[in-house]
Amino acid sequence: MSQDTLKLSAARAAIQYVPEGKVIGVGTGSTANFFIDELAGIKGRIAGAVASSEATAERLSSHGIKVFGLDEIDAPLPVYIDGADEITHSGAMIKGGGGALTREKIIASVAEKFICIADGSKLVERLGSFPLPVEVIPMAWRPLSSRLAALYGGSPALRIREGKPFITDNGNYILDIAGLTVEDPRRMEAEINQLAGVVTVGLFACQGASICLLGTGQGVQTLHFRTC
Ligand code: 5RP
Repeated sequence: MSQDTLKLSAARAAIQYVPEGKVIGVGTGSTANFFIDELAGIKGRIAGAVASSEATAERLSSHGIKVFGLDEIDAPLPVYIDGADEITHSGAMIKGGGGALTREKIIASVAEKFICIADGSKLVERLGSFPLPVEVIPMAWRPLSSRLAALYGGSPALRIREGKPFITDNGNYILDIAGLTVEDPRRMEAEINQLAGVVTVGLFACQGASICLLGTGQGVQTLHFRTC
């Protein structure tokens, strides 16, 4: 089965977690896109969605799903549904491969449940094979690269697209740290968030997933995590 087929199966399985008549949070990326396309089929049953990126807002709107700003709704959201670049057996994740990590973390922080949708390749024993994205204020990218390398090892690199620095929806840069060993995701998340110039680190461990719907060759597996 292709990776896309597995992503689609996880996205389809997430529809059962969409509550009637509510505004839900929707993430960014190819798996989230499959979910949005499935959501279109039941759009009459929801009030609308809060989007974690401009791209997601556009896709939701193109299906006629009403998009709300986070300031227009009464928090908490019942559910936030999004993909991940890596997820562990305890629900800690690396996110931000699509560059939307900051808005993703904000929306996740006001959601009662984070439903992670992913293909089976995303489940890992330890985080760090996927380069860890860190959204940074542009003027800080170079000093932060040296600081992060000194603190954790690995190789931080400025994300480049089409020969230019990738700019997030918030007007910032992204450093991708390759070759990291993430022994303690919660501690690393808290520490990196404290560094001057860091906007958001793509570790979602202090507040990880509640449930992961994992598309595998043997069907969709549902993993439940203890949240704190
Ligand atoms: C975007 C993200 C995505 O959830 C993550 O990159 C997974 O993407 P995909 O579903 O395309 O594999 O964090 O910022």
